[in-house]
Amino acid sequence: MHRCNERQRCVLNERVTPERCALNRGVSERLCQILIVTGSIFLAVFIMAQFGPMAGNLKRDIRNLRDSLNSIKLDVTIGLANIRKEFEKKLREKEIKLRICIFNDMKMYILKNLNESAKKIIKDAIDLYDADKTGMADYALETLGAYAEVTGDTESLEGEPPFLGEHPHSVQCMITPIVSPGHCWAFRGSKGSAVIHLVGSVYITAVSLEHIPAAISPTGEISDAPREFTIWGLICGGDEEKIHLGKFEYNKTGHRIQYFKMKDCKRSFSKIEVRIHSNHGNSVYTCVYRLRVHGFPNLI
Ligand SMILES: *[C@@H]1O[C@H](CO)[C@@H](O)[C@H](O)[C@H]1NC(C)=O
Ligand SMILES: *[C@@H]1O[C@H](CO)[C@@H](O)[C@H](O)[C@H]1NC(C)=O
Repeated sequence: MHRCNERQRCVLNERVTPERCALNRGVSERLCQILIVTGSIFLAVFIMAQFGPMAGNLKRDIRNLRDSLNSIKLDVTIGLANIRKEFEKKLREKEIKLRICIFNDMKMYILKNLNESAKKIIKDAIDLYDADKTGMADYALETLGAYAEVTGDTESLEGEPPFLGEHPHSVQCMITPIVSPGHCWAFRGSKGSAVIHLVGSVYITAVSLEHIPAAISPTGEISDAPREFTIWGLICGGDEEKIHLGKFEYNKTGHRIQYFKMKDCKRSFSKIEVRIHSNHGNSVYTCVYRLRVHGFPNLI
């Protein structure tokens, strides 16, 4: 076997003329080119056939993925919102519970301390307002329903022209809580008497008589204050019976409220009589500012 180049092979094998050989070569080159182009087209078609649908799928998949992502995002957002809502709700509940607890604690604390402090406040207030008063119920208090009327030949000065800068007051003034200059039961002279209808039937233990202090009297003195006086318990019936409960003296230089203990008495009374026998020197009139009746009620 001997080798030959293209030209030699042509010449040897086919015994063609060199011209013919050259022509053959040209044809085969053209064929090669055609084959290459066709192959490329086939390859392209093949690639298109293989990957075209894939690309479409990929697009769809990406679209699906994006949709999924979007829906996940939405879910997450909704979820987070729900969690926040839930958290806020729990927080609110906790806060409310906490507030209630704090409020209850505070209430208990206040109540616990109020017991003592309230007592103190009340005591202080009473002490301040009523430091020198009896601290006992008054069964002759007009505002509770008691009433008074003058008796005998007592000449009340009510309705007469100005008196101590104020109009004189009736016997009712003796049983009202107001004790200010001129607000008294005023009667002419130094003797006077009145009956007081008490608030129910009362076992009387004491009476107290109050007069304004000289310091606040428009005249600078209290000669109009009652001095000697007597208390009787009145028993209602066919003939009114009087039980003597005591004779007392109001001290002009003593405390403005003076306290007089009754004789021990086993009876209860719904009416008493008070008789003023003298005053502290005023020759024109006498003033009774406040008479209180103390004791305990007969509830039967
Ligand atoms: C307040 O005091 C009274 C009597 O002292 C007692 O019975 C009551 O339990 C007390 N209340 C409080 C809240 O401490
Ligand atoms: C009147 O009260 C004053 C002062 O409290 C006292 O010094 C005086 O002895 C009292 N007078 C009578 C008669 O009780």
